[in-house]
Amino acid sequence: MSEGLGPPGAVVAIVGATGAVGVELIRCLEERAFPLSELRLFASARSAGKTLRFRGQALAVRELNEHSFSGVDIALFSAGGSTSKRFAPIAVRAGATVVDNSSAFRMDPTVPLVVPEINPQTLRTHQGIIANPNCCAIIAITPLWPIHRTNRIRRLMLATYQAASGAGAAAMEELLESTRAYLDGRAYQHKVLPHPYAFNLFSHNTSIDPATGYNDEETKVIQETRKIFGDAEMRVSATCVRVPVLRAHSVAITFECERPITAAQVRDLMQTAPGVKLVDDAQRNYFPMPQDASGQDPILVGRIRQDLSDPGGRSICLFVAGDQLLKGAALNAVQIAESL
Ligand code: A2P
Repeated sequence: MSEGLGPPGAVVAIVGATGAVGVELIRCLEERAFPLSELRLFASARSAGKTLRFRGQALAVRELNEHSFSGVDIALFSAGGSTSKRFAPIAVRAGATVVDNSSAFRMDPTVPLVVPEINPQTLRTHQGIIANPNCCAIIAITPLWPIHRTNRIRRLMLATYQAASGAGAAAMEELLESTRAYLDGRAYQHKVLPHPYAFNLFSHNTSIDPATGYNDEETKVIQETRKIFGDAEMRVSATCVRVPVLRAHSVAITFECERPITAAQVRDLMQTAPGVKLVDDAQRNYFPMPQDASGQDPILVGRIRQDLSDPGGRSICLFVAGDQLLKGAALNAVQIAESL
């Protein structure tokens, strides 16, 4: 079934259309009036026959298979790493350009890893696949880019407060269900995440590298930051933690520049930083919060202050919150597709 949608434009496919990011991809394409002539929605066999709304029409979700990409110009993948590994090369062979939200290709040196506010020039080098970065990496480093360009950040330390949405729609449901059960005094057997989630927090649910002691999420944030900034020498450390928040990630950041820098200089840079909104009201104690960031495109930045532990005046602490499903995933992918 073809879904003709009016004026000429690209044929776009979404792989993982029924997922937490997939539905936001559909919404972003609609809200940003993406110039497409046809939208094709794919998911697993479980979802075949479901419909999702786009520009007033009910579009059928189809089961993904090897023939799904015939005639597709742009394929937006958000169905996990194994689906990307298997189907992204098939999509490229069929002539599509893939924007992949999984980690499958991010560190492949032939694949650009793109935040459009930071390194859009790397898009020119793509060979069919473009990787959308890790959500925490996007949210933490988009505000840091204007600082890095002015006064190189040579050391970066991050502590994340990551929402359920990063683990998918089922994890969001588990947070809601386990919270209801907790409040009702009922037992709840967690199925999606490895630990009780209601009124709790835990180290990120990815495996630990025995050589470094860092989990996969932390390693991604470290490696991807260096790749996106094009600065292999940057010293980066991260502690990634899952918190009982539905859909926006927060990050506490301390960075050290090559030369002294003041909080006022950083605040000035944040006023005009693309994709960023300054929320830094010390009088009202009002700073970035995941609840305020949810559903918003910009990354909220505040608590900007000199790092008192650095007598050299080169270090700044700040706090950010950004919608994991939007700038951390779907919005960034659609911005990449727009740049194509
Ligand atoms: P489905 O809903 O049919 O399982 P989330 O990140 O929220 O968990 O969503 C994952 C998305 O990836 C869903 O749309 C899911 O479809 C889709 N998906 C998972 N496995 C496959 C697969 N093997 N082929 C195609 N889509 C898949």
